[in-house]
Amino acid sequence: MKNYISHDPWKIVEHGFHKEHNQITESLCSIGNARFGQRANFEEHFSGPSLQGNYVAGVYYPDKTKVGWWKNGYPEYFAKVLNNCNWILLDLRFNGERLDLSETEVKEFYRELDMQKGVLMRTCTVALKNGVVIEIESRRICSFANKDLGALSYQIRILEGSATIECDSLLDFDIRNQDSNYQENFWTNYSAHLNKETAYVQAETKKTGFHVGVAAQTTLRLNEEVQAAMPNQVSEAKLGHRYELSARAGDTIQIEKYAGIVSSMYYELAEFKQKTERIIAEAAQKGYAALEMEHSQAWARKWELSDIVIAGDVAAQQGIRFNIFHLNQTYDGSDDRLNIGPKGFTGEKYGGSTYWDTEAYCLPFYLFTAEEEVARNLLVYRYKHLNKAIENAEKLGFKDGAALYPMVTMNGEECHNEWEITFEEIHRNGAIAYAIYDYIRFTGDAAYLAEYGLEVLIGISRFWAQRVNFSKDKNQYVILGVTGPNEYENNVNNNWYTNYIAKWCLNYTGAQIEAVRQKEAAAWDRIQEKTRFKEDELSDWKEISAQMYLPEDKENNIFLQQDGFYDKEIIPVKELSAEDQPLNQKWSWDRILRSCFIKQADVLQGLYFFEEQFESNVIASNFDFYEPLTVHESSLSPCVHAILAANLGKHAKAYEMYLRTSRLDIDDYNNDSEDGLHITSMAGTYISVVKGFAGIKVANDALHINPALPKEWDSIAFSILFRGQRIRLQIEREQTIIENLSEKDISLLFNGKETRIASNKNSILQQTL
Ligand code: BGC
Repeated sequence: MKNYISHDPWKIVEHGFHKEHNQITESLCSIGNARFGQRANFEEHFSGPSLQGNYVAGVYYPDKTKVGWWKNGYPEYFAKVLNNCNWILLDLRFNGERLDLSETEVKEFYRELDMQKGVLMRTCTVALKNGVVIEIESRRICSFANKDLGALSYQIRILEGSATIECDSLLDFDIRNQDSNYQENFWTNYSAHLNKETAYVQAETKKTGFHVGVAAQTTLRLNEEVQAAMPNQVSEAKLGHRYELSARAGDTIQIEKYAGIVSSMYYELAEFKQKTERIIAEAAQKGYAALEMEHSQAWARKWELSDIVIAGDVAAQQGIRFNIFHLNQTYDGSDDRLNIGPKGFTGEKYGGSTYWDTEAYCLPFYLFTAEEEVARNLLVYRYKHLNKAIENAEKLGFKDGAALYPMVTMNGEECHNEWEITFEEIHRNGAIAYAIYDYIRFTGDAAYLAEYGLEVLIGISRFWAQRVNFSKDKNQYVILGVTGPNEYENNVNNNWYTNYIAKWCLNYTGAQIEAVRQKEAAAWDRIQEKTRFKEDELSDWKEISAQMYLPEDKENNIFLQQDGFYDKEIIPVKELSAEDQPLNQKWSWDRILRSCFIKQADVLQGLYFFEEQFESNVIASNFDFYEPLTVHESSLSPCVHAILAANLGKHAKAYEMYLRTSRLDIDDYNNDSEDGLHITSMAGTYISVVKGFAGIKVANDALHINPALPKEWDSIAFSILFRGQRIRLQIEREQTIIENLSEKDISLLFNGKETRIASNKNSILQQTL
């Protein structure tokens, strides 16, 4: 655990230069605008620990799989989000000595990510070896107001000495992914243009044929006076402008750099150059300060909808805002071809691809904080991949329109390379069906079913119906050879979570078919024809759902994670020695598989999803059994435990679990923040507060609020959007104030009691009813 980031409600602050943690800070202070993003690299050359990272949404490369022994059905490739053109580069030399914070004496240093305004800034004082002392002040944005624009302002003051200065303001597209399987360059077909004022470079991805084009314009002033630029082509893919000037103590050099960044996701290649040049010309005209202002105003609108105010605990406040900030930077719901990579724009790990994380963890964040369309687009993304999911299932021997969604994907094709996950974690299909249910119950947008959702549900249900087999021994349907959410068990039979979600899904699909058939006959005819749905499928599904085997210990009210779970030696995690943890780094895989230790919520994941279907004593007995066995070695785990614990009244446990999620990256809990941030687990933090401590859920078609404020906090305040109505909650120790910000009255259940709040009115509700 690291503790070098100062506690602040709105900022991530590094006081003093922590060079050894530089790669962590680069991740933490990443900035992005859901269209492109970057790590918080320095503008100038830096030879210390660093991962240079610039990423453009939706632009990926299918990197050929690397496995020991090829088996039929293996995915051909692992899709990777591509490290892109570095547009921030300002290579500086003072009397010939290169500015490099790794090699020079850094006298003062302050780096700040202002999450409220979305601005990354840094000030530092540096003593060069040649005696020149300078002060740098830089600010940078990935504009929220113009999603194709990046801008920076970089000021140098000469404090001591005098120098001839060379400044190369460059675009560098000679970039490789650090995680390339075969160390190849994924980019090709470079072309570049340079004129007196602007630099432009474009490249194409190998195989996938995406294009990205970047133009930059720099203005450099010495004491307010604009300096002449000299075009400078360093190599085929690295070019820009050189400035040469002399300055002495007291002089100020002010650099402003604008970059227009476009991709073939949004523009025709033929218009790239003109488009990017227009973007930078307009930006230069407005100037950095005005651009930053527009950008911060756009952020203010985001915060108005998604902020959570925690009073009485600065560390918790910083933690939650950090998570909300990065979620908003990663996905804005404006494009149904995009999704949420586990690292967003902050690193390369996990390839930037889509996992079940989106449906299981991220969806509620966007449901609560954004217009309906944002969450809807996450669902439509999967609808558009339905044919690929059917092909994916066919490759594995399924037929007749059965759909198996990929565990990891960019374009709908499976691209995960571990067979235990690729083939066996079929539960991801369940989360995709669950998301449709969750979306509809939350937004009330039942029209989604006939338009898109039902086809997906039918494909998924067909998969379950073919994946089960009837056990004569048990006289029930079983699902063999799976991996559940707990990846520390592979190839198990009858994972309770998987069987339960399959059972639920078959049942839910049947009910939705009936509903659409009755209410929208024409739509049903279209769907029936398109999916070639046969009536007897419905009766098969009913039968399988009714007869699904669910391993359980009835006497103790415990659902068994899988067949034979009780054969394991049951030892609580607290009896493990610290040297043994994390297990995934300390133990052999074989030992992990034989043990009872659980990587992440598994049975408990099911109880979280389907809470209203179980008595609270049943949830409690399962929680009490599984929680002590869980090592939480996935960042997705503690949030589910936090929510269940809060809802069960286990306040201390809920708070302990919450702390593990909310500051996971800031405090570098898992020693891996340097690779990038855990974006999908950030959504888990958000739901821990909203579904856990505020106790918000939709059950039996009604909104419920059951607050359980942690004793460490004075209050929590936030707003949510429910079925088009926005309400604001202020949860205090003794009372909750609910404000209805919409034009219609709203009915809800507060601690189980029906409450009606008139439009644009407040209601003050006592906590203990
Ligand atoms: C978790 C998976 C998750 C993946 C990406 C893994 O460690 O076990 O459930 O989908 O990370 O976040």
